[in-house]
Amino acid sequence: MIKWLEYRNSNSKDIVKRSEGESVRILGWVSSKRVHKDKIFLSIRDRYGYLQIVATPEESSDNIFNLAKTIPVESAIAAEGIVKHDPRAPNGVELRLKDLIVISKADIWPVTKSALKSPELMYDKRHLTIRGPRSRAILLIRSGVIKAAMEYFEKNDYVLINAPTFITSAVEGGATLFKLKYFDDYAYLTQSSQFYEEAAICVFEKVYVIQPSFRAEKSRTRRHLTEFWHIEAEAAFADHDDIMKVEEELVSYMLNYLNEHYSGEIKTVKKSGIKIYEPPFPRISYDEALEILHSKGVEMEWGEDFGADEERVLSMQFDTPFFVYGYPASTRSFYHMNDPDRPEVTLSSDLMAPDGYGEITSGGQRIHDYNELYNKIISFGLDPSQYEWYLEIRKYGMPPHAGFGLGVERFMRWILELPHIRDATLFPRTPSRVYP
Ligand code: 4AD
Ligand code: MG
Repeated sequence: MIKWLEYRNSNSKDIVKRSEGESVRILGWVSSKRVHKDKIFLSIRDRYGYLQIVATPEESSDNIFNLAKTIPVESAIAAEGIVKHDPRAPNGVELRLKDLIVISKADIWPVTKSALKSPELMYDKRHLTIRGPRSRAILLIRSGVIKAAMEYFEKNDYVLINAPTFITSAVEGGATLFKLKYFDDYAYLTQSSQFYEEAAICVFEKVYVIQPSFRAEKSRTRRHLTEFWHIEAEAAFADHDDIMKVEEELVSYMLNYLNEHYSGEIKTVKKSGIKIYEPPFPRISYDEALEILHSKGVEMEWGEDFGADEERVLSMQFDTPFFVYGYPASTRSFYHMNDPDRPEVTLSSDLMAPDGYGEITSGGQRIHDYNELYNKIISFGLDPSQYEWYLEIRKYGMPPHAGFGLGVERFMRWILELPHIRDATLFPRTPSRVYP
Protein backbone atom coordinates (compact mmCIF):
# COMPACT_ATOMS: atom_id res chain seq x y z
CA MET A 1 0.00 0.00 0.00
CA ILE A 2 1.57 3.31 -0.95
CA LYS A 3 1.36 6.22 1.44
CA TRP A 4 -0.29 8.89 -0.66
CA LEU A 5 0.47 11.84 1.55
CA GLU A 6 4.16 11.10 1.50
CA TYR A 7 4.19 11.08 -2.30
CA ARG A 8 2.28 14.32 -2.44
CA ASN A 9 5.20 16.02 -0.73
CA SER A 10 6.41 17.58 -3.95
CA ASN A 11 5.42 18.41 -7.52
CA SER A 12 6.98 19.44 -10.83
CA LYS A 13 6.89 23.14 -9.97
CA ASP A 14 8.39 22.77 -6.53
CA ILE A 15 11.15 20.38 -7.57
CA VAL A 16 12.74 23.00 -9.82
CA LYS A 17 13.59 24.96 -6.65
CA ARG A 18 14.96 21.99 -4.69
CA SER A 19 18.70 21.61 -4.07
CA GLU A 20 21.00 19.24 -5.89
CA GLY A 21 21.10 15.82 -4.28
CA GLU A 22 17.81 16.13 -2.41
CA SER A 23 15.50 13.13 -2.48
CA VAL A 24 11.94 14.04 -3.55
CA ARG A 25 8.68 12.30 -4.46
CA ILE A 26 6.08 13.07 -7.07
CA LEU A 27 2.69 11.73 -8.24
CA GLY A 28 1.66 12.02 -11.87
CA TRP A 29 1.35 10.38 -15.27
CA VAL A 30 3.99 9.17 -17.69
CA SER A 31 3.33 11.54 -20.57
CA SER A 32 6.17 10.23 -22.74
CA LYS A 33 9.03 7.77 -22.66
CA ARG A 34 12.30 7.59 -24.58
CA VAL A 35 14.76 4.74 -24.34
CA HIS A 36 18.26 5.88 -25.19
CA LYS A 37 20.89 3.12 -25.03
CA ASP A 38 21.33 2.63 -21.28
CA LYS A 39 19.16 5.56 -20.23
CA ILE A 40 15.40 5.86 -19.95
CA PHE A 41 13.81 9.28 -20.03
CA LEU A 42 10.31 9.59 -18.58
CA SER A 43 8.41 12.84 -18.82
CA ILE A 44 6.04 13.02 -15.85
CA ARG A 45 2.99 15.26 -16.02
CA ASP A 46 1.26 16.62 -12.94
CA ARG A 47 -0.99 19.59 -12.09
CA TYR A 48 1.86 22.04 -12.67
CA GLY A 49 3.49 20.72 -15.82
CA TYR A 50 6.23 18.32 -16.75
CA LEU A 51 9.29 16.88 -15.04
CA GLN A 52 11.99 14.74 -16.60
CA ILE A 53 12.91 11.57 -14.75
CA VAL A 54 16.00 9.61 -15.83
CA ALA A 55 16.63 5.97 -15.04
CA THR A 56 20.08 4.44 -15.43
CA PRO A 57 21.32 0.96 -14.51
CA GLU A 58 23.89 2.58 -12.18
CA GLU A 59 21.44 4.68 -10.19
CA SER A 60 18.31 2.50 -10.22
CA SER A 61 17.96 -1.11 -9.11
CA ASP A 62 17.42 -3.69 -11.88
CA ASN A 63 13.74 -3.98 -10.99
CA ILE A 64 13.11 -0.26 -11.10
CA PHE A 65 15.12 0.19 -14.28
CA ASN A 66 13.11 -2.54 -16.02
CA LEU A 67 9.85 -1.13 -14.73
CA ALA A 68 10.78 2.29 -16.16
CA LYS A 69 11.68 0.62 -19.44
CA THR A 70 8.38 -1.24 -19.82
CA ILE A 71 5.88 1.13 -18.24
CA PRO A 72 3.16 2.13 -20.74
CA VAL A 73 2.70 5.85 -21.33
CA GLU A 74 -0.20 7.49 -19.46
CA SER A 75 0.16 5.12 -16.52
CA ALA A 76 -0.41 6.88 -13.20
CA ILE A 77 2.71 6.58 -11.07
CA ALA A 78 4.47 7.56 -7.86
CA ALA A 79 8.18 8.18 -8.18
CA GLU A 80 11.10 9.00 -5.95
CA GLY A 81 14.39 10.36 -7.15
CA ILE A 82 17.41 12.54 -6.56
CA VAL A 83 17.33 16.16 -7.78
CA LYS A 84 19.91 16.96 -10.43
CA HIS A 85 20.24 20.40 -11.98
CA ASP A 86 21.04 19.96 -15.65
CA PRO A 87 20.67 22.72 -18.24
CA ARG A 88 19.80 20.08 -20.87
CA ALA A 89 16.66 19.02 -18.96
CA PRO A 90 13.45 20.77 -20.12
CA ASN A 91 13.11 22.88 -16.94
CA GLY A 92 16.76 22.75 -15.99
CA VAL A 93 16.09 20.02 -13.42
CA GLU A 94 15.62 16.27 -13.59
CA LEU A 95 15.16 13.45 -11.12
CA ARG A 96 17.45 10.44 -11.15
CA LEU A 97 15.04 7.60 -10.49
CA LYS A 98 15.29 5.64 -7.23
CA ASP A 99 11.83 4.20 -6.84
CA LEU A 100 8.83 3.83 -9.12
CA ILE A 101 5.37 2.59 -8.21
CA VAL A 102 2.69 1.96 -10.82
CA ILE A 103 -0.58 3.16 -9.32
CA SER A 104 -2.71 2.50 -12.39
CA LYS A 105 -1.18 0.84 -15.41
CA ALA A 106 -2.30 2.14 -18.81
CA ASP A 107 -3.21 0.03 -21.83
CA ILE A 108 -1.35 0.67 -25.07
CA TRP A 109 -2.16 4.30 -25.94
CA PRO A 110 -4.80 4.18 -28.70
CA VAL A 111 -4.00 7.52 -30.30
CA THR A 112 -1.58 6.46 -32.99
CA LYS A 113 0.55 8.64 -35.25
CA SER A 114 -1.99 8.23 -38.07
CA ALA A 115 -4.86 9.32 -35.79
CA LEU A 116 -2.94 12.53 -35.21
CA LYS A 117 -3.58 13.38 -38.86
CA SER A 118 -7.35 13.04 -38.55
CA PRO A 119 -9.05 15.76 -36.51
CA GLU A 120 -12.26 13.70 -36.35
CA LEU A 121 -10.45 10.70 -34.85
CA MET A 122 -8.67 13.01 -32.41
CA TYR A 123 -12.03 14.36 -31.28
CA ASP A 124 -13.54 10.86 -30.99
CA LYS A 125 -10.77 10.30 -28.45
CA ARG A 126 -11.02 13.75 -26.91
CA HIS A 127 -11.36 12.23 -23.41
CA LEU A 128 -7.77 11.08 -23.88
CA THR A 129 -6.27 13.61 -26.30
CA ILE A 130 -6.91 16.50 -23.86
CA ARG A 131 -3.86 15.14 -22.03
CA GLY A 132 -1.52 16.37 -24.77
CA PRO A 133 0.67 19.42 -24.04
CA ARG A 134 -1.14 21.65 -26.54
CA SER A 135 -4.66 20.89 -25.29
CA ARG A 136 -3.43 21.19 -21.74
CA ALA A 137 -2.03 24.66 -22.44
CA ILE A 138 -5.14 25.82 -24.31
CA LEU A 139 -7.43 24.66 -21.50
CA LEU A 140 -5.29 26.40 -18.88
CA ILE A 141 -5.42 29.60 -20.93
CA ARG A 142 -9.17 29.17 -21.14
CA SER A 143 -9.42 29.14 -17.34
CA GLY A 144 -7.31 32.32 -17.44
CA VAL A 145 -9.76 33.96 -19.87
CA ILE A 146 -12.62 33.37 -17.43
CA LYS A 147 -10.58 34.52 -14.45
CA ALA A 148 -9.50 37.68 -16.30
CA ALA A 149 -13.07 38.55 -17.23
CA MET A 150 -14.26 38.00 -13.66
CA GLU A 151 -11.43 40.12 -12.29
CA TYR A 152 -12.26 42.94 -14.73
CA PHE A 153 -15.96 42.93 -13.85
CA GLU A 154 -15.38 42.62 -10.11
CA LYS A 155 -12.90 45.54 -10.17
CA ASN A 156 -15.55 47.59 -11.96
CA ASP A 157 -18.34 46.78 -9.47
CA TYR A 158 -20.39 44.46 -11.68
CA VAL A 159 -22.44 41.79 -9.86
CA LEU A 160 -22.18 38.19 -11.04
CA ILE A 161 -25.59 36.64 -11.68
CA ASN A 162 -26.62 33.19 -12.93
CA ALA A 163 -29.40 33.02 -15.49
CA PRO A 164 -31.54 29.95 -16.27
CA THR A 165 -30.75 27.52 -19.07
CA PHE A 166 -34.37 26.51 -19.77
CA ILE A 167 -36.20 29.42 -21.31
CA THR A 168 -39.47 30.11 -23.11
CA SER A 169 -38.76 32.87 -25.64
CA ALA A 170 -36.07 33.61 -28.19
CA VAL A 171 -33.47 36.33 -27.61
CA GLU A 172 -31.66 35.96 -30.90
CA GLY A 173 -34.40 34.75 -33.24
CA GLY A 174 -36.40 31.52 -33.38
CA ALA A 175 -34.32 29.89 -36.11
CA THR A 176 -31.46 28.86 -33.81
CA LEU A 177 -33.46 27.69 -30.77
CA PHE A 178 -33.03 24.18 -29.42
CA LYS A 179 -36.53 23.03 -28.53
CA LEU A 180 -37.03 20.37 -25.90
CA LYS A 181 -39.84 18.64 -24.12
CA TYR A 182 -40.51 20.17 -20.70
CA PHE A 183 -42.94 17.83 -18.97
CA ASP A 184 -46.26 18.40 -20.77
CA ASP A 185 -44.98 21.50 -22.49
CA TYR A 186 -41.98 22.73 -24.44
CA ALA A 187 -39.03 24.88 -23.49
CA TYR A 188 -35.84 26.02 -25.22
CA LEU A 189 -32.18 26.15 -24.35
CA THR A 190 -30.97 29.68 -23.75
CA GLN A 191 -29.24 31.59 -26.56
CA SER A 192 -28.16 34.47 -24.33
CA SER A 193 -28.72 35.56 -20.73
CA GLN A 194 -29.36 39.12 -21.85
CA PHE A 195 -33.06 39.38 -20.94
CA TYR A 196 -32.40 38.07 -17.43
CA GLU A 197 -29.53 40.51 -17.06
CA GLU A 198 -31.88 43.30 -18.08
CA ALA A 199 -34.25 42.32 -15.24
CA ALA A 200 -31.33 42.17 -12.81
CA ILE A 201 -29.86 45.61 -13.60
CA CYS A 202 -32.86 47.14 -11.82
CA VAL A 203 -31.44 45.58 -8.64
CA PHE A 204 -27.70 45.80 -9.22
CA GLU A 205 -27.17 48.40 -11.97
CA LYS A 206 -24.24 46.48 -13.47
CA VAL A 207 -24.31 42.71 -13.91
CA TYR A 208 -22.44 40.01 -15.78
CA VAL A 209 -22.78 36.32 -16.51
CA ILE A 210 -20.31 33.68 -17.66
CA GLN A 211 -22.22 30.58 -18.70
CA PRO A 212 -23.14 28.48 -21.73
CA SER A 213 -25.41 29.60 -24.54
CA PHE A 214 -26.87 27.27 -27.16
CA ARG A 215 -27.48 27.77 -30.86
CA ALA A 216 -29.09 25.27 -33.20
CA GLU A 217 -26.94 26.57 -36.04
CA LYS A 218 -26.34 23.92 -38.66
CA SER A 219 -23.49 25.97 -40.12
CA ARG A 220 -20.38 23.81 -40.02
CA THR A 221 -17.87 26.61 -39.83
CA ARG A 222 -14.64 27.05 -37.97
CA ARG A 223 -16.28 29.61 -35.70
CA HIS A 224 -19.60 28.06 -34.70
CA LEU A 225 -20.37 25.75 -31.82
CA THR A 226 -23.85 24.61 -30.79
CA GLU A 227 -22.85 25.15 -27.15
CA PHE A 228 -20.47 27.99 -26.34
CA TRP A 229 -19.51 29.94 -23.25
CA HIS A 230 -20.83 33.41 -23.19
CA ILE A 231 -19.42 36.36 -21.24
CA GLU A 232 -22.23 38.91 -21.12
CA ALA A 233 -22.61 42.19 -19.30
CA GLU A 234 -25.41 44.71 -18.95
CA ALA A 235 -25.34 48.18 -17.40
CA ALA A 236 -28.12 50.56 -16.37
CA PHE A 237 -27.84 54.30 -17.04
CA ALA A 238 -25.50 53.49 -19.92
CA ASP A 239 -25.67 54.10 -23.65
CA HIS A 240 -24.13 52.48 -26.69
CA ASP A 241 -20.88 54.46 -26.47
CA ASP A 242 -20.46 53.51 -22.82
CA ILE A 243 -20.79 49.82 -23.57
CA MET A 244 -18.28 49.93 -26.44
CA LYS A 245 -15.78 51.37 -23.95
CA VAL A 246 -16.48 48.49 -21.55
CA GLU A 247 -15.95 45.97 -24.35
CA GLU A 248 -12.60 47.35 -25.48
CA GLU A 249 -11.40 47.73 -21.88
CA LEU A 250 -12.41 44.15 -21.11
CA VAL A 251 -10.66 42.74 -24.19
CA SER A 252 -7.51 44.68 -23.43
CA TYR A 253 -7.64 43.65 -19.77
CA MET A 254 -7.97 39.98 -20.72
CA LEU A 255 -5.03 40.17 -23.14
CA ASN A 256 -2.78 41.82 -20.56
CA TYR A 257 -3.88 39.38 -17.85
CA LEU A 258 -3.13 36.36 -20.02
CA ASN A 259 0.21 37.74 -21.06
CA GLU A 260 1.14 38.27 -17.43
CA HIS A 261 -0.12 34.97 -15.97
CA TYR A 262 -0.09 32.47 -18.86
CA SER A 263 2.94 33.33 -20.98
CA GLY A 264 4.37 29.79 -20.71
CA GLU A 265 1.13 28.15 -21.85
CA ILE A 266 0.71 30.74 -24.60
CA LYS A 267 4.18 29.93 -25.96
CA THR A 268 3.27 26.23 -26.09
CA VAL A 269 0.33 27.09 -28.35
CA LYS A 270 1.72 30.06 -30.25
CA LYS A 271 5.46 30.64 -30.27
CA SER A 272 5.24 34.33 -31.04
CA GLY A 273 2.92 34.96 -28.06
CA ILE A 274 -0.30 36.96 -28.14
CA LYS A 275 -0.61 40.53 -29.36
CA ILE A 276 -1.71 43.15 -26.86
CA TYR A 277 -4.07 45.91 -27.96
CA GLU A 278 -4.85 49.00 -25.90
CA PRO A 279 -8.10 50.98 -26.22
CA PRO A 280 -9.56 52.88 -27.91
CA PHE A 281 -10.14 50.54 -30.86
CA PRO A 282 -11.07 52.07 -34.23
CA ARG A 283 -14.78 52.50 -34.94
CA ILE A 284 -16.28 52.38 -38.43
CA SER A 285 -19.91 52.58 -39.39
CA TYR A 286 -21.81 49.81 -41.15
CA ASP A 287 -21.95 52.13 -44.18
CA GLU A 288 -18.16 52.55 -44.20
CA ALA A 289 -17.72 48.79 -43.79
CA LEU A 290 -20.02 48.25 -46.77
CA GLU A 291 -17.95 50.67 -48.85
CA ILE A 292 -14.76 48.76 -47.96
CA LEU A 293 -16.45 45.50 -48.97
CA HIS A 294 -17.66 46.95 -52.27
CA SER A 295 -14.14 48.21 -52.99
CA LYS A 296 -12.90 44.62 -52.46
CA GLY A 297 -15.40 43.28 -54.98
CA VAL A 298 -17.89 41.89 -52.45
CA GLU A 299 -21.42 42.29 -53.74
CA MET A 300 -24.02 43.02 -51.11
CA GLU A 301 -26.81 45.50 -50.59
CA TRP A 302 -27.33 47.97 -47.79
CA GLY A 303 -29.51 46.28 -45.16
CA GLU A 304 -27.99 42.81 -45.48
CA ASP A 305 -26.06 41.32 -42.57
CA PHE A 306 -22.38 40.46 -42.84
CA GLY A 307 -21.76 36.72 -42.94
CA ALA A 308 -18.53 34.94 -42.14
CA ASP A 309 -17.14 35.61 -45.63
CA GLU A 310 -17.80 39.35 -45.53
CA GLU A 311 -16.37 39.61 -42.02
CA ARG A 312 -13.24 37.80 -43.16
CA VAL A 313 -12.65 40.22 -46.02
CA LEU A 314 -13.40 43.23 -43.83
CA SER A 315 -11.25 42.17 -40.91
CA MET A 316 -8.32 41.43 -43.25
CA GLN A 317 -8.13 45.21 -43.72
CA PHE A 318 -7.37 45.79 -40.02
CA ASP A 319 -4.48 44.89 -37.78
CA THR A 320 -6.19 45.84 -34.52
CA PRO A 321 -9.63 44.92 -33.18
CA PHE A 322 -12.25 47.39 -34.46
CA PHE A 323 -15.92 48.15 -33.98
CA VAL A 324 -18.52 48.20 -36.72
CA TYR A 325 -21.46 50.26 -35.44
CA GLY A 326 -24.83 51.38 -36.77
CA TYR A 327 -26.16 48.08 -38.13
CA PRO A 328 -29.42 48.37 -40.07
CA ALA A 329 -32.50 47.54 -37.99
CA SER A 330 -33.25 44.71 -40.43
CA THR A 331 -30.06 42.87 -39.34
CA ARG A 332 -30.56 43.11 -35.57
CA SER A 333 -32.96 41.53 -33.07
CA PHE A 334 -36.07 43.43 -32.07
CA TYR A 335 -34.76 44.65 -28.71
CA HIS A 336 -32.18 46.99 -30.25
CA MET A 337 -32.83 50.72 -29.95
CA ASN A 338 -33.08 52.55 -33.24
CA ASP A 339 -30.82 55.57 -33.64
CA PRO A 340 -33.12 58.59 -32.97
CA ASP A 341 -31.18 60.58 -35.60
CA ARG A 342 -31.43 57.84 -38.20
CA PRO A 343 -34.15 55.29 -37.35
CA GLU A 344 -33.20 52.81 -40.08
CA VAL A 345 -30.04 51.92 -38.12
CA THR A 346 -29.62 50.67 -34.55
CA LEU A 347 -27.43 51.81 -31.67
CA SER A 348 -25.48 48.60 -31.91
CA SER A 349 -22.04 47.29 -32.80
CA ASP A 350 -19.90 44.22 -33.27
CA LEU A 351 -16.32 44.10 -32.11
CA MET A 352 -14.32 42.46 -34.89
CA ALA A 353 -11.00 40.72 -34.42
CA PRO A 354 -8.43 41.59 -37.10
CA ASP A 355 -6.61 39.36 -39.61
CA GLY A 356 -9.71 37.64 -40.95
CA TYR A 357 -11.17 36.41 -37.64
CA GLY A 358 -14.26 38.65 -37.54
CA GLU A 359 -16.94 39.05 -34.87
CA ILE A 360 -16.08 38.34 -31.25
CA THR A 361 -18.73 40.47 -29.53
CA SER A 362 -22.15 41.93 -30.27
CA GLY A 363 -23.59 44.70 -28.18
CA GLY A 364 -25.73 47.76 -28.09
CA GLN A 365 -28.33 49.89 -26.43
CA ARG A 366 -31.70 48.31 -25.65
CA ILE A 367 -35.15 49.81 -25.99
CA HIS A 368 -36.16 50.84 -22.45
CA ASP A 369 -39.55 52.39 -23.27
CA TYR A 370 -42.56 50.04 -23.03
CA ASN A 371 -44.52 51.34 -26.03
CA GLU A 372 -41.49 51.58 -28.27
CA LEU A 373 -40.56 47.96 -27.51
CA TYR A 374 -44.15 46.76 -27.89
CA ASN A 375 -44.41 48.40 -31.32
CA LYS A 376 -41.07 47.02 -32.45
CA ILE A 377 -42.09 43.50 -31.43
CA ILE A 378 -45.24 43.90 -33.56
CA SER A 379 -43.31 45.38 -36.48
CA PHE A 380 -40.98 42.35 -36.40
CA GLY A 381 -44.02 40.08 -36.76
CA LEU A 382 -43.50 38.65 -33.26
CA ASP A 383 -46.12 37.94 -30.62
CA PRO A 384 -45.94 40.34 -27.63
CA SER A 385 -47.49 37.69 -25.36
CA GLN A 386 -44.25 35.71 -25.82
CA TYR A 387 -42.37 38.59 -24.26
CA GLU A 388 -44.74 39.49 -21.44
CA TRP A 389 -42.29 39.60 -18.55
CA TYR A 390 -39.61 41.20 -20.69
CA LEU A 391 -42.05 43.96 -21.63
CA GLU A 392 -43.32 44.31 -18.08
CA ILE A 393 -39.90 45.32 -16.73
CA ARG A 394 -40.36 48.44 -18.88
CA LYS A 395 -43.41 49.43 -16.82
CA TYR A 396 -41.44 49.69 -13.58
CA GLY A 397 -38.56 52.12 -13.85
CA MET A 398 -36.40 50.79 -16.66
CA PRO A 399 -33.61 53.30 -17.33
CA PRO A 400 -31.61 53.56 -20.58
CA HIS A 401 -29.24 50.60 -20.63
CA ALA A 402 -26.81 48.73 -22.83
CA GLY A 403 -24.92 45.47 -22.87
CA PHE A 404 -22.97 42.98 -24.91
CA GLY A 405 -21.94 39.35 -25.26
CA LEU A 406 -18.50 37.90 -26.02
CA GLY A 407 -17.94 34.29 -27.06
CA VAL A 408 -15.13 32.74 -25.02
CA GLU A 409 -14.14 30.29 -27.75
CA ARG A 410 -14.29 32.93 -30.50
CA PHE A 411 -11.98 35.12 -28.44
CA MET A 412 -9.57 32.25 -27.85
CA ARG A 413 -9.57 31.14 -31.45
CA TRP A 414 -8.53 34.64 -32.42
CA ILE A 415 -5.80 35.31 -29.86
CA LEU A 416 -4.22 31.85 -30.17
CA GLU A 417 -4.84 31.54 -33.93
CA LEU A 418 -6.52 28.16 -33.46
CA PRO A 419 -7.46 26.39 -36.70
CA HIS A 420 -10.95 25.58 -35.41
CA ILE A 421 -13.14 26.96 -32.62
CA ARG A 422 -13.62 23.47 -31.16
CA ASP A 423 -9.94 23.48 -30.14
CA ALA A 424 -10.83 26.10 -27.53
CA THR A 425 -13.19 23.81 -25.57
CA LEU A 426 -12.84 20.73 -23.38
CA PHE A 427 -15.57 18.70 -25.10
CA PRO A 428 -16.85 20.58 -28.16
CA ARG A 429 -20.46 20.48 -29.30
CA THR A 430 -21.07 21.04 -33.01
CA PRO A 431 -23.86 19.98 -35.40
CA SER A 432 -22.01 16.71 -35.97
CA ARG A 433 -20.62 16.11 -32.49
CA VAL A 434 -22.18 15.50 -29.09
CA TYR A 435 -19.73 12.69 -28.20
CA PRO A 436 -17.72 12.18 -26.07
O1 4AD B 1 -23.99 38.11 -31.45
P1 4AD B 1 -24.75 37.30 -30.47
O2 4AD B 1 -25.76 36.39 -31.00
O3 4AD B 1 -25.40 38.34 -29.44
C1 4AD B 1 -26.16 37.99 -28.37
O4 4AD B 1 -26.44 36.86 -28.03
C2 4AD B 1 -26.54 39.15 -27.49
N1 4AD B 1 -27.80 38.85 -26.85
C3 4AD B 1 -25.43 39.34 -26.48
C4 4AD B 1 -25.72 40.47 -25.53
O5 4AD B 1 -25.84 41.59 -25.98
N2 4AD B 1 -25.80 40.20 -24.27
O6 4AD B 1 -23.70 36.49 -29.60
C5 4AD B 1 -22.68 37.18 -28.90
C6 4AD B 1 -21.33 36.54 -29.14
C7 4AD B 1 -20.87 36.58 -30.58
O7 4AD B 1 -20.26 37.81 -30.88
C8 4AD B 1 -19.88 35.44 -30.62
O8 4AD B 1 -18.64 35.79 -30.05
C9 4AD B 1 -20.54 34.43 -29.70
O9 4AD B 1 -21.39 35.15 -28.83
N3 4AD B 1 -21.31 33.43 -30.45
C10 4AD B 1 -20.88 32.20 -30.74
N4 4AD B 1 -19.74 31.56 -30.46
C11 4AD B 1 -19.59 30.30 -30.89
N5 4AD B 1 -20.53 29.63 -31.59
C12 4AD B 1 -21.71 30.22 -31.90
N6 4AD B 1 -22.64 29.54 -32.58
C13 4AD B 1 -21.92 31.58 -31.48
N7 4AD B 1 -22.94 32.45 -31.60
C14 4AD B 1 -22.55 33.57 -30.96
MG1 MG C 1 -23.64 38.93 -33.20
